Amino acid sequence: MSGRASGFGHAKVILLGEHAVVHGHPALAGALEMGYRATARRGRARLEVPAWGVAAHPGGSTDLDRAFEALLAPVDGAAVHVTVEPGVPSRAGLGSSAAMSVAVVRAIASLLGLEPGPAEIEAWAGRAEEVFHGAGKASGVDAAVACRGGVLRFVRGEPPGAVALDAPLPVVIAHVEPRATTAAMISRVAAAMDERPARVRDLFGRIGQLVGQAVLRVGCGDHAGLGELMNDSQRILADLGVSSAALDRACGLSLEAGALGAKLTGAGGGGCVIALAPGRQEQVARALEPLGTWVRATSVGSG
Ligand code: PMV
Repeated sequence: MSGRASGFGHAKVILLGEHAVVHGHPALAGALEMGYRATARRGRARLEVPAWGVAAHPGGSTDLDRAFEALLAPVDGAAVHVTVEPGVPSRAGLGSSAAMSVAVVRAIASLLGLEPGPAEIEAWAGRAEEVFHGAGKASGVDAAVACRGGVLRFVRGEPPGAVALDAPLPVVIAHVEPRATTAAMISRVAAAMDERPARVRDLFGRIGQLVGQAVLRVGCGDHAGLGELMNDSQRILADLGVSSAALDRACGLSLEAGALGAKLTGAGGGGCVIALAPGRQEQVARALEPLGTWVRATSVGSG
C-alpha cells in the first residue's frame, strides 16, 4: 500500500438512446478522453473538489456527503481523504457524477490494495449514482462508460457490449445552457409516459431501432449514416419534450457549419449538444462558440 493513489473515470456522451435506455431499450454511448480524476490518501474521511470550492464528509446532509458515505460503505467507512479534479462541467449531460464516482472508487480501491473488476466498480459507483439520481432511476449507462471507456451498446441490466471502432469519432461538444438535474428530467419523461403511454412507447421504440442501425454504422465507420441517425434521434427527443430552443438552435448551427449530425446528449432540457464533424471540427466549434459556455473539439471512443 502506497501513501497516495489515484483513479480516473471517463466522461461520456450518449450517441443515441438517452431516456429510452432507462425504460429497457438499448443505447449507444461513448467515452471522452476527458473525465474526472481522484486522488486518495489515508486521513480524516473527507472528499474535496477544490475547483468547485466544496467538500463533503460522511454523516453530512448534502447529496455529495451522502454519495461519499455510500462510496465508503463497501470499505466499512475507511478513513480516506479524497481530492477530485473535474475535467468536464457537471449537470451538462456528460455523465459527470458517474465519472467522479468511478474515479473515487478506483482511487479508494487502489489505496486499499483492492482490485475490483469493471462490474464491481460499476456496482460500487452505482451506490453514489443512486444518491445523485434517486434509487432505481439511472440506467447504469453512465457508470459503465465511465469505467470501461470505448463505445458501448448498453441495455439496462445486461453486461455492456464493446463496439469496435476503426478510429475514435471526431465530434464537437458544446455546453449551451444550464439544465435541471438528471433525476428531474427522468421524472419529466416518466410523467409523459403516464400521460401519453402509447405515444411515448412508440418514440422509445423508434429510438431503439435507431440504436440498432447506429451500432452497424459505427462498426463500419459510416459517419454520414451515423450522422443521419443522430438527426433523427434529435427530432424524436424534441417530440419527447427533452430538447430546448437553445439545443435546437445549436444543432441547426452545427449542421450549417458542416456537421453530419447533431443532437442533445444526456438528460436534455439544456446541457450539451454533440455534433459529429469529421474534417469540420474547427468550423463547427467556431459556429457554436457564441452559444456555448464550454465548447470542445474532441473524439468519442477513448479508453
Ligand atoms: O445527463 P446525464 O449525463 O446524467 O445522462 C442521463 C442519461 C439518461 O438516459 C437520461 C439517464 C440514464 O440513467 O440513462
